[in-house]
Amino acid sequence: MSSPSFVSGLILVLGMGFATRAVAADDPPPPLSPEKAEHAAGNYQRYCALCHGKAREGHANDHAPSLRSRSLIESGIPMVVGEAIAYGRPGTPMGGYLDEVGGPLTRADIRELTLWLRDASGAKVEVPDYERGSERIAGDVARGAAIHARECVACHGKDGMGGTGTALANPAMLALTPDIFLRHAIVNGRQDTPMPPFGDKLSAADIDDVTAFLRSRSTDWSARRTLSKPPALGDYVINKDGDAPLFGELAEGRYVSAKVLDRELRAKRRMVLLDTRVTSMWQMAHIEGAVPAPYYANREEVVASLPRDGTWIVAYCECPRAAADSVVKWLREEGKFSNTAVLYEGIQGWVSLGYPVVAGDASKPAATP
Ligand code: HEC
Ligand code: HEC
Repeated sequence: MSSPSFVSGLILVLGMGFATRAVAADDPPPPLSPEKAEHAAGNYQRYCALCHGKAREGHANDHAPSLRSRSLIESGIPMVVGEAIAYGRPGTPMGGYLDEVGGPLTRADIRELTLWLRDASGAKVEVPDYERGSERIAGDVARGAAIHARECVACHGKDGMGGTGTALANPAMLALTPDIFLRHAIVNGRQDTPMPPFGDKLSAADIDDVTAFLRSRSTDWSARRTLSKPPALGDYVINKDGDAPLFGELAEGRYVSAKVLDRELRAKRRMVLLDTRVTSMWQMAHIEGAVPAPYYANREEVVASLPRDGTWIVAYCECPRAAADSVVKWLREEGKFSNTAVLYEGIQGWVSLGYPVVAGDASKPAATP
């Protein structure tokens, strides 16, 4: 079998999506140089380890998948891994890291990180018929739905929004993921994770049907590339003239509920809201007035820019709490911020409970009047 071109493939994939073009057969790029590998490993620990684990094992937070399972690497580079890092899976805790969508990494960084994941896993990228990556797998959607209900929903969720398993109805995932990638995961499972192989359990026709069912749920999706300028960290205080919020006793000494936070924001209380997710997620939607203070930001800078006058500082993330917990930990270790809290439900919980968010928009300053 000929190997796909990683170089042209990656540029092609990150540039315009694989769906419309075949990938040329060519040699894969060689392993990264030690310097590049070290740079990529540093980026991995800074940006990814929080959820995917220090050793790429996955499930450290948020059911983030393993980034070293053989079947992912075999089928996923550059098609899916690179795209997932660049654009994320909007609606899940996986944000986009590409600068074009508001993230901290360049295309070159992402390419390097993707190749590093390949090198670190030791797996070879070989998906049969890789060159036909854009082809649809034909199957009976209704039969596939029945098999899915029986075999998959326990982990992936009835509505495809995820659970232990990833969100199989995620619009970005489906838009950036070819059928053969989905099928490869179903046949082989993901080694050393809860995802079992179905290659022996289901017939080839059954697997085609489930794949066709997963595909049938895809919708239009494209990355949003118009970016807004976030307010500076120093420009943070919401309701400058308001009184302090009445949060009552914090659960576990740390958590405030969405209900209470919403009530206090409506009552125009003075506070700082920190959005601790990757900055592309702030671009998509955030709680009004929140400033980006991502979990990978420079700790000294964050700490130096926040008020030490007792103003309440509330952090939130998607996770629902891991990134926000880590930023609030910095503040608490500093010992100079007397009032800090974390939004218990995270922003996903906030949104699903019906509380409002706004899209990133620099035309309206976040700090009100
Ligand atoms: C806040 C937690 C979090 C952080 C930080 C994070 N991820 Fe993820 N990542 C997730 C979750 C959760 C998913 C699965 C989303 C879903 O349901 O599809 C995911 C999915 C992925 C996937 C798709 C894997 C697959 O099996 O399809 C890749 C690749 C990935 N992440 C790479 C990265 C890299 C590289 C970084 C660092 C630059 C990173 N992630 C940072 C939570 C995170
Ligand atoms: C016991 C739980 C469990 C069951 C049952 C299960 N899965 Fe999974 N699945 C997972 C987990 C967990 C992952 C993420 C694995 C990882 O960490 O890489 C996953 C990953 C996947 C992926 C890869 C998604 C991606 O973004 O890379 C696909 C596709 C998938 N499952 C499809 C299915 C289908 C279809 C079924 C039913 C036929 C099924 N799964 C049944 C737990 C499960």
